[in-house]
Amino acid sequence: MQTHEIRRRFLDHFEKAGHTVVPSASLISEDPTVLFTIAGMAPFKPYFLGQATAPFDRATSVQKCVRTLDIENVGITTRHNTFFQMAGNFSFGDYFKAGAIEHAWELVTGSVEDGNYGFDPERIWVTVYEDDDEAIDLWKQIAGLPEERIQRRDGEDNYWDMGVPGPGGPCSEIYYDRGPEYGAEGGPVADENRYLEIWNLVFMQDVRGELSPKYGNPPVGSLPKKNIDTGLGIERVALLLQGVDNVYETDLLRPIIAEAERLSGVVYGTDHASDVRFRVIADHIRSGTLLIGDGVTPGNEGRGYVLRRLLRRTIRSARMLGVTEDVMPTLTAVVRDQMSEAYPEIRADYSRIERIAAAEEQAFLKTITSGTKLFENTAAQTRSVAGSAISGDAAFALHDTHGFPIDLTLEMASEAGLSVDQAGFTALMQEQKARARADAKSRKGGFGDLSVYRELLDAGATEFTGYTELKSEGVLRGIISDGKRVPTANVGDIVELVLDRTPLYAESGGQESDAGTIFGPNAAAEVLDVQKVSKKLWVHQVRITDGELAEGQKVQAQVDPEWRVGARQAHSGTHLVHAALRQVLGPDALQSGSYNKPGYLRLDFAWTQGLSAATRSEIEEVANLAVRGDLAVAVKYATLPQAREMGALALFGETYDETVRIVEIGGPWSIELCGGTHVEHSSQVGPLSLIGESSIGSGVRRLEAYVGMDAFRRLATERALVAELAGLLKVPTSDVPSRVEQLVERLRVAEKELEKYRGAALLASAGGLVDVAEQVGTVSLVAAQTPDGISGGDLRTLALDVKGRLGGKPGVVALFSVTDGAVSFVIAATQAAIDDGVKAGDVVKSVLPTITGRGGGRPELAQGGGTDPSGVPAALAAVRGALG
Ligand code: ALA
Repeated sequence: MQTHEIRRRFLDHFEKAGHTVVPSASLISEDPTVLFTIAGMAPFKPYFLGQATAPFDRATSVQKCVRTLDIENVGITTRHNTFFQMAGNFSFGDYFKAGAIEHAWELVTGSVEDGNYGFDPERIWVTVYEDDDEAIDLWKQIAGLPEERIQRRDGEDNYWDMGVPGPGGPCSEIYYDRGPEYGAEGGPVADENRYLEIWNLVFMQDVRGELSPKYGNPPVGSLPKKNIDTGLGIERVALLLQGVDNVYETDLLRPIIAEAERLSGVVYGTDHASDVRFRVIADHIRSGTLLIGDGVTPGNEGRGYVLRRLLRRTIRSARMLGVTEDVMPTLTAVVRDQMSEAYPEIRADYSRIERIAAAEEQAFLKTITSGTKLFENTAAQTRSVAGSAISGDAAFALHDTHGFPIDLTLEMASEAGLSVDQAGFTALMQEQKARARADAKSRKGGFGDLSVYRELLDAGATEFTGYTELKSEGVLRGIISDGKRVPTANVGDIVELVLDRTPLYAESGGQESDAGTIFGPNAAAEVLDVQKVSKKLWVHQVRITDGELAEGQKVQAQVDPEWRVGARQAHSGTHLVHAALRQVLGPDALQSGSYNKPGYLRLDFAWTQGLSAATRSEIEEVANLAVRGDLAVAVKYATLPQAREMGALALFGETYDETVRIVEIGGPWSIELCGGTHVEHSSQVGPLSLIGESSIGSGVRRLEAYVGMDAFRRLATERALVAELAGLLKVPTSDVPSRVEQLVERLRVAEKELEKYRGAALLASAGGLVDVAEQVGTVSLVAAQTPDGISGGDLRTLALDVKGRLGGKPGVVALFSVTDGAVSFVIAATQAAIDDGVKAGDVVKSVLPTITGRGGGRPELAQGGGTDPSGVPAALAAVRGALG
């Protein structure tokens, strides 16, 4: 039975039994405590908790889920996928245990002809929570299961909650016996590979506190009603009904492996290492494609980082199978073809998905190329010092600046016959993590304990009033200090405030948060930062500047109007630059991030080469022409498909609501999905001045610009600077460049000339030195301190010249010079002196202690340096002593 058929049968079965079919929610979780939707019940959580009244008593869904905890194990074990579809039926205070068991048993064991799955009832086993005798009785009565195929398990296996405070309950799980070839007898408690879990029925009745009842902690309360939440693994049922060994061989994943076989020329099933790579590709590209579909873009944090890892592991696995061409275009297409029957939006939005995946592939390949160069240099260096291990520092640099996962470094090292100092690498990684944690803490205040935010969110979303007003009355819902709820805050405290309504914009969509003030009945607080903890909860970080604030008080929040004028200019300016960029470079210049605050904006985009000065000027001019054109700015609301039809650019928003907000500048001139605050006419942006364009790594470039008064001030400052230069050079401003060029050329000529004179003067001094030669035994000795500042090559040239002037006689030259508080010296001996038994290298040895020095050399020439200039006279004496 095909996977899509299994989905359909599930929904049909429950629709017939009076359940409302609810479409899958986005993979992006609205719950601030988790990144992704991890279970079918997640969208229904408020109904279970009684915070909202369910519009139905019974519902059913097949929910897209992503769980990435075990990403490293994907493909090594074959039961888990990062993406899976959880089919569920839900009862909100309607039927309970008996109903859940009846419905499940019928669908699992009822005949295929009647629309069920048709599993052999003799092979079904179930588990129940340890003391749930009621469930045992129901399984016997309803399903006729014998006692020996019902097993009791403790909370760790048979209690379910979301891993955080919230709804929970004991559960009963349904298993299918795959037969003795898959493992030991004895039911699920003995072997979960042979007995494969297919369905979890949760009897939702408790409120879980900080500690989970899974581990014996008592629940902190009861839910208002008794509910049912179930989860059937569509992929697991598929593997059983398709008679294959594991999920990767089912109808929706096998075609991805087939494509990878075609690309690599390697056959799946030949060796374990390659098979793991095939499975990683199949699993990760599917999760990655669906995540992009739901609005995630690759990045270095949070969801974006998970997506980046999934895509990069896919690309790397393909490379390790020997694929040399790009894989994203074809692999994402296979996912589209397999998955769009269930999720048609993947097909509708495919060109955007493919572009994002392909851009990430290009970025990663660039990284690999530069990283490989660094790796090769490091490997050569390691060998040259007769070492066999790549240092932890080098492995860390490969990871940190070139995005090399450690396993890639390990593999390349082993191919090169080297090992890697993994302990050193791990220590550096841990240091970096600790730094990042400390940094995040200092930046965002007490974002530690997320349950506080969830509690506040459960009490209601924050209403944003700031599109239409700069001052709003509201209620102070909660005060958070160091991650904990507190009743009051006093002058001097830095705390976080949650309001029911606020005009203060929270940092999002690249726009910096608003500056402003929150007034209480007898208090004032300066707003330092505003963040959205989830899509619907605004958190203001403030410093209380006056009086005391208390939870529950009426407050007034005010945006600093000057700030907001700047913020609107900067954000509209960002849209202008983005549109100009695409007009000049073409639609492939894909924005990958942006940031703006009053006076300043930056835009990151996927592009591999630097922009020429002419291209930069063109972009700047197109943007400024749009300012001059005084284009009207319009804000519209529409559904996502309507927005797409209008050509709106929706490159990164986190998740798409039913209605989206569209910001148009000059009708189709610029049209983007955006939640930001904007000017009403493009002329209000004011002048826009590009300040630079640079690479920020991984095939991404950054444009920066000043807008409004800041652009004007920058231009004015530059004008003043040019005027000052013109004054100094005594030429009209237009002649400044040619005059500077002339001066540079003259300077170069003068320096060359000077060099010539210096060399001549140096050699002239050689004659003078020969005159001070003294006789020590048979040797003519020139031992002298030269003027300061002659070092290295010059000192050696001088010494050799003096030595030449000593002719065929036994002679020794010892010159010392002081440069920047350090001594350098050169000692040279003539051949005749060497014949007499003098060795320059030996003379050095008697010199070193006098100047705290190091050095050495051959009989004819030795040199070195020291750190103690006051020892030079003693050094000269030591030379004499060594010869005497
Ligand atoms: N919510 C339950 C689970 O995820 C059904 O297993």
